[in-house]
Amino acid sequence: MAEEAIIRFDQVTKQYDDDTIVLNNVSFEIERGKFYTLLGPSGCGKTTILRLIAGFTEASKGDIYFNGKRMNNVPANERQVNTVFQDYALFPHLNVYENVAFGLRIKKMKKAEIDRRVNEALRFVNLSGYESREITEMSGGQRQRVAIARAIVNEPEVILLDEPLSALDLKLRTEMQYELRDLQKRLGITFIFVTHDQEEALAMSDEIFVINEGRIQQSGTPTDIYDEPINRFVADFIGESNIVPGKMIRDFEVEFAGKRFECVDQGLNQNEPVEVVIRPEDLEITTWSEGKIQVKVASQLFRGVHYEMLCYDESKNEWLVHSTKKATVGDEIGLNFGPEAIHVMRLGETEEEFDKRLEAYQGAGYGK
Ligand SMILES: Nc1ncnc2c1ncn2[C@@H]1O[C@H](COP(=O)(O)OP(=O)(O)O)[C@@H](O)[C@H]1O
Ligand SMILES: [Mg+2]
Repeated sequence: MAEEAIIRFDQVTKQYDDDTIVLNNVSFEIERGKFYTLLGPSGCGKTTILRLIAGFTEASKGDIYFNGKRMNNVPANERQVNTVFQDYALFPHLNVYENVAFGLRIKKMKKAEIDRRVNEALRFVNLSGYESREITEMSGGQRQRVAIARAIVNEPEVILLDEPLSALDLKLRTEMQYELRDLQKRLGITFIFVTHDQEEALAMSDEIFVINEGRIQQSGTPTDIYDEPINRFVADFIGESNIVPGKMIRDFEVEFAGKRFECVDQGLNQNEPVEVVIRPEDLEITTWSEGKIQVKVASQLFRGVHYEMLCYDESKNEWLVHSTKKATVGDEIGLNFGPEAIHVMRLGETEEEFDKRLEAYQGAGYGK
């Protein structure tokens, strides 16, 4: 192992009562100094993972390690972790300085040290000069930064951020995405960020864990997850996808929409039923006779940068197309795509099995 993981979950299960399993046998490693995102729909278990890391709740089964030491029973205040909550949980009756200093005063730190740390934390989030402002006089984005300053002032090894941007409007949210990402790089502290917004996750993260129904569906870099989704859930949740049923004829040849196509996937069985993913932006529109598949345009919307068309082939598969070219509703057109635009998913494959197959496939000189 290159460097010891800063946090490790080993087969962690969390059950609040007898029948509902909230996290099911979850294992992962968090490396030092990276920006991680837990991404998944509401109720999938994201906050529960943060609460387990912070020590606000206990695992029902499995072990949680911090720098190699088991910490299942270590109380929250002894963990090198700070949380930024969705509603920021700032004290409205205290000014900016006192909000950031609060935890240090509780720890009975010396006044000069408190001063040094608070000033440095405020400088990091660009709030120097705002020390005596009341929280109630701060904008949403500024409150967000106070909440972050309050987390970094403790000099933790890990900062947990639970959907911290979801209350902000779109423009401010985008600004804060840049700010947070930049802050994480400057601080070099490990961030574990929670969101249900896939675009946010793709834009900000070094590593994403895609979670559904209490299980990690897939983990990897944004491009890994976007280009090589492991299953229908991930393909659907991350970006827009066309997912059609197909059959693997042999290595590098797959059948769907009633035809056979060259692809770059291998390591599946001959004639194995599969699901085929093609991203809407990887489909090119052309004439009926020149297309690899033939479709009828059912509807079209102008999306600002591209046209979005919904088309159907003769097998009644739906094809979403993003194109800078315009089509006409009702027209019969052709769609073209290269072998590398086709992504074949094995039904019910686990992440481990998928990784093995992908390694073999990249070893053969494809992908990457
Ligand atoms: N204290 C609790 N007692 C019982 N069930 C809970 C408790 N906290 C969370 N849950 C349940 O656990 C599941 C996962 O919750 P959570 O981790 O908050 O999801 P997320 O943050 O992804 O929206 C949900 O079904 C939720 O209702
Ligand atoms: Mg949550």
